[in-house]
Amino acid sequence: MLVAATALAQTESPGTPTAPPVQNQAPAQRPAPPQRKSPQQNPAPKLGDALPGLTAAELDRFTAGKEEFLNVETIASGLGPIFNNVSCVACHSTPVAGGTSQIFVTRFGRTINGIFDPLESLGGSLLQDHAIDPACQEVIPPEANTIAHRQTPPLFGLGLIEAIPDEAIKSLALRPAVDGITGHAAIITDVTTGAERVGRLGIKCQHATILGFSGDAYLNEMGITNRFFPHENAPNGNAALLAMFDTTLDPEDVADPITNRSDIDTVADFQRLLAPAQPLPFTPAALAGQRVFNDIGCAHCHLPQLMTGPSTVAALNHKPVNLYSDLLLHDMGTLGDGIAQSAATAREMRTTPLWGLRFTAPYLHDGRALTIDAAIRAHDGQGKAARDRYARLRPEDSRALLEFLGSL
Ligand code: HEC
Ligand code: HEC
Repeated sequence: MLVAATALAQTESPGTPTAPPVQNQAPAQRPAPPQRKSPQQNPAPKLGDALPGLTAAELDRFTAGKEEFLNVETIASGLGPIFNNVSCVACHSTPVAGGTSQIFVTRFGRTINGIFDPLESLGGSLLQDHAIDPACQEVIPPEANTIAHRQTPPLFGLGLIEAIPDEAIKSLALRPAVDGITGHAAIITDVTTGAERVGRLGIKCQHATILGFSGDAYLNEMGITNRFFPHENAPNGNAALLAMFDTTLDPEDVADPITNRSDIDTVADFQRLLAPAQPLPFTPAALAGQRVFNDIGCAHCHLPQLMTGPSTVAALNHKPVNLYSDLLLHDMGTLGDGIAQSAATAREMRTTPLWGLRFTAPYLHDGRALTIDAAIRAHDGQGKAARDRYARLRPEDSRALLEFLGSL
């Protein structure tokens, strides 16, 4: 297994100001007696660290998963024929592995009378903008009249989001409407089980499980077929071109004979056990901003907290998830990306979780907003009433709100 040295170098964490001071440093000469050790079992994790409180076996899975997340795919390991990048970390890199980046993917399709056609027979809706040979390079076909960019989102805390029960998300859609807001849960078929589930991953809530999303990403971002996605993408739908350049046997990601696990399983472990970004201590201004956030209606969609259900992983078992999202799809008017996908219409988007916001500029699905202020002002559709109240805030109140959002 190859590991990108450059990617490894990026995993140096800048450290968060919330990390507690080291309390259990042993004196230089004499080791501290055992009872003097810090009582704090689980110091706040730094960005990119594993969830606190994992068993040794879980920590081993996290470490192995991270190695796979950094692993650079080659033609020999199944890369392509068409793909977007060579490793997960190539896009999910900043400021540490599992993070974001300004790399975006492109989706295209054709919209006629408001009906979106993903142009599947021409290779849509996801464009693969790299190829192992220029002769099979995909292009946006002339038939496309709808083109959207999606920026890479961070993956911190994803295991907690995955562990929220479907029913908890469904019940949020039944709350009395505020400002006419009616989100709905994305009912999808989970590719890993075939079961009907509530999607919550991806900007269209297109997946319910990290394993399902990972299988999707292996195929659609890297061109690696796997047990859930066993068929290669034909370049712009051209089967003859695919046959010419697809030289590796499918599925390309097969289970290790000893562990009986495939790369998608391993890489899912890393994401599932990756800790969320830790909030900064709230200053008095941030506390005032939190009240403004609730008062002007942001918290209706950006719900501060949900709970995980039962999990065999203790660190995910009945834990609070301070994500600031209802994980519902909302009609966002002009802020929608024009791509109908899975259970989401062209204008519907998942309420973006706001935890770790200070690490993820630029903002919104396509990175169009350079500042948090611009991101709020771009809200439309069901977010318009809250946006208008934001625009009317006294300067000290909007400053407080921005300080709050920058502390999450
Ligand atoms: C070419 C860049 C790129 C590569 C390579 C890539 N991703 Fe992503 N990833 C994205 C973008 C862009 C999105 C948002 C797309 C969407 O939601 O439709 C995303 C979304 C995700 C999500 C959903 C996050 C959320 O907030 O719900 C997961 C999980 C994920 N990627 C995992 C992976 C894994 C695992 C790999 C490696 C197999 C990978 N990605 C490779 C760009 C990339
Ligand atoms: C109707 C539900 C809804 C309401 C109300 C709402 N938002 Fe959002 N918010 C969303 C959705 C959906 C997105 C993702 C939009 C996109 O990327 O196109 C989003 C995105 C954001 C982002 C960008 C996050 C990122 O990482 O890119 C910020 C910041 C934000 N909202 C803050 C606020 C604030 C502050 C308020 C109150 C003034 C608010 N929102 C009200 C649904 C809502």
